[in-house]
Amino acid sequence: MAESMKGLKRTHRCTEVSNKLIGETVTVMGWVQKRRNLGSLIFADLRDRSGLLQIVFDENDVKPEGFAKAETLRSEFVIAVVGKVTKREAAVNESLATGDIEIRATELRILSESLTPPFPIEEASNTKEEIRLKYRYLDLRRPDLQRNLIMRSKACILTRAFLAEEGFLEIETPVLNKSTPEGARDYLVPSRIHPGNFYALPQSPQLFKQLLMCAGYDRYFQIAKCFRDEDLRADRQPEFTQIDMELSFVDIDDVIDVNERLLQKLFKEILDVDIKLPIQRMTWKEAMERFGSDKPDTRFGMELKDISDIVKDCGFGVFAGAVENGGSVRGINAKGQGSMPRKKIDALVEFAKGYGAKGLAYLVINDDGTYKSSFAKFMTEDELEKIAERMEGKPGDLLLFAADKSKLVFDVLGGLRLKLAEDLGLLDKNVYNFLWITEFPLLEYSEEQGRYVAMHHPFTMPMEEDLPLLDTNPGAVRAKAYDIVLNGNEIGGGSVRIYQSHIQEKMFEVLGFTKEEAYERFGFLLNAFKYGVPPHAGLAYGLDRLIMLMAKEDSIREVIAFPKIKDASCLMTEAPNVVDKKQLEELCIVCTKTEDKEGE
Ligand code: AMO
Ligand code: AMP
Repeated sequence: MAESMKGLKRTHRCTEVSNKLIGETVTVMGWVQKRRNLGSLIFADLRDRSGLLQIVFDENDVKPEGFAKAETLRSEFVIAVVGKVTKREAAVNESLATGDIEIRATELRILSESLTPPFPIEEASNTKEEIRLKYRYLDLRRPDLQRNLIMRSKACILTRAFLAEEGFLEIETPVLNKSTPEGARDYLVPSRIHPGNFYALPQSPQLFKQLLMCAGYDRYFQIAKCFRDEDLRADRQPEFTQIDMELSFVDIDDVIDVNERLLQKLFKEILDVDIKLPIQRMTWKEAMERFGSDKPDTRFGMELKDISDIVKDCGFGVFAGAVENGGSVRGINAKGQGSMPRKKIDALVEFAKGYGAKGLAYLVINDDGTYKSSFAKFMTEDELEKIAERMEGKPGDLLLFAADKSKLVFDVLGGLRLKLAEDLGLLDKNVYNFLWITEFPLLEYSEEQGRYVAMHHPFTMPMEEDLPLLDTNPGAVRAKAYDIVLNGNEIGGGSVRIYQSHIQEKMFEVLGFTKEEAYERFGFLLNAFKYGVPPHAGLAYGLDRLIMLMAKEDSIREVIAFPKIKDASCLMTEAPNVVDKKQLEELCIVCTKTEDKEGE
């Protein structure tokens, strides 16, 4: 039966009880991790968010009814224990913070009983994620998740303190907004008062933070929930959190400076890792050419090399044809992988095809200097030698090549490079390689829409020296945009914004918006800018991704208290779900299709 806490007050968390308190009486409360009966002695491990503490119930110390109660303890019962801190006689547990002490109980209360949990509450759980997420409140009791959420909390608190110190104001922006498409699909909320009208949940506070600059708040930040209805992956959730900021009267270097110091502080205080400043910067073009990615993982080499000039006239049609069609032929060197079995190489070819490649050519340099290859027979000895030299190929190396439009070649080899690094165990989670990527293209041509679309967003400032290209060659214009990359993950991004109306108008023109369309969508921002707008710039981090990497996890679900699964549903609450007919009527909504969840 559940007893009351009346008359008792918790004095310490489990691991706050240390050997400095030996001889003192303490009151601790928490969950029973496990119980062992040894006749006249009963041992229980008590757990709270701080860790574990051993409790001993000795027939000589507790009253008989207390001892009887101790015999009934089971995993996950919530108990209160009063007892004396004593030095452990035997079985000192070095791995526990409280491993050299125990509590000799004098009083026990069972505050609440527990069903047998569907999975053990333990470190490094093997339980299937679906089960863990269904019972997330139990999963969250596990030490790994508790550490992750404690780390997340610490990061938020440190961020707030740091930014406040730097003169930033924390300001909230609305969640019920007008839909202003920003790339991903919006989550919509129907309005009851305005039938047929909808709010959109923010994909980011972008426009509001720019309006705050317009309003003179000059340094803003917010730890903001953002919502994007996009396909989910390990590093993407439909709702996620940004550390969002905007600054007035600044340029790129000012934004980078304050953010480098923020990152340095977070990593020092949370992980005791020193980040050397300044963080390396690399242009987007260099990143693509060297790593085939705009978020390169620089913890290992295996850089891309362009061999187009060597093979442009060669006898291998796949290579020569790609160059002739304006594409390129590039390769990576998997050092020492020359003895990779054919089956594994075939699997790499399939992997490349998954990225849309038509194939993947390989060249193994044998120990005697001869080659084993899918294309060597079409090449001259001289060409092969030049390729090997360009690729820094040594006997025992495996060289892999893709030939196609450069964009696809980058994608394929960038992906392959990461896969190989993962397979070969080259990714050390204890190494933190930061990198700024700068000079992104301003625009991207969308075949689907038949027009240019903004790579970041339509308010991103072109690089001043590229402004004339907006008229002649928009695809070549570089943006004053930057991403911060950590170990191959985009953990944040931002840009200097357009604040001059003639540049903004030009931008809308290039994007194919008429003036009316631009005002229809963003009128409130464009009008605001007519009343005195400062030059401004900003950045937003994906907080979940940052913490995932700090916690050395592989998925952001491990650092979010109540995450959603791949199909954007919550296994615990079963959201989304059907609603009452009455609710729909009130909103004047008729569903044309309803998913039968039961039937699934
Ligand atoms: P951006 O769209 O690049 O920029 O988003 C900023 C950062 O948010 C993280 N992120 C996500 N994390 C988890 N799940 C998602 N679905 C998801 N989508 C994005 C990424 C990303 O780098 N308003 C601009 C910022 C600015 O210009 O100031 C913006 O939202 O880590
Ligand atoms: P094929 O001529 O299609 O038999 O291809 C000969 C070899 O070239 C095979 O190993 C293919 O995987 C490879 N290959 C085909 N297309 C490409 C491509 N676009 N880039 C690189 N290798 C390719």
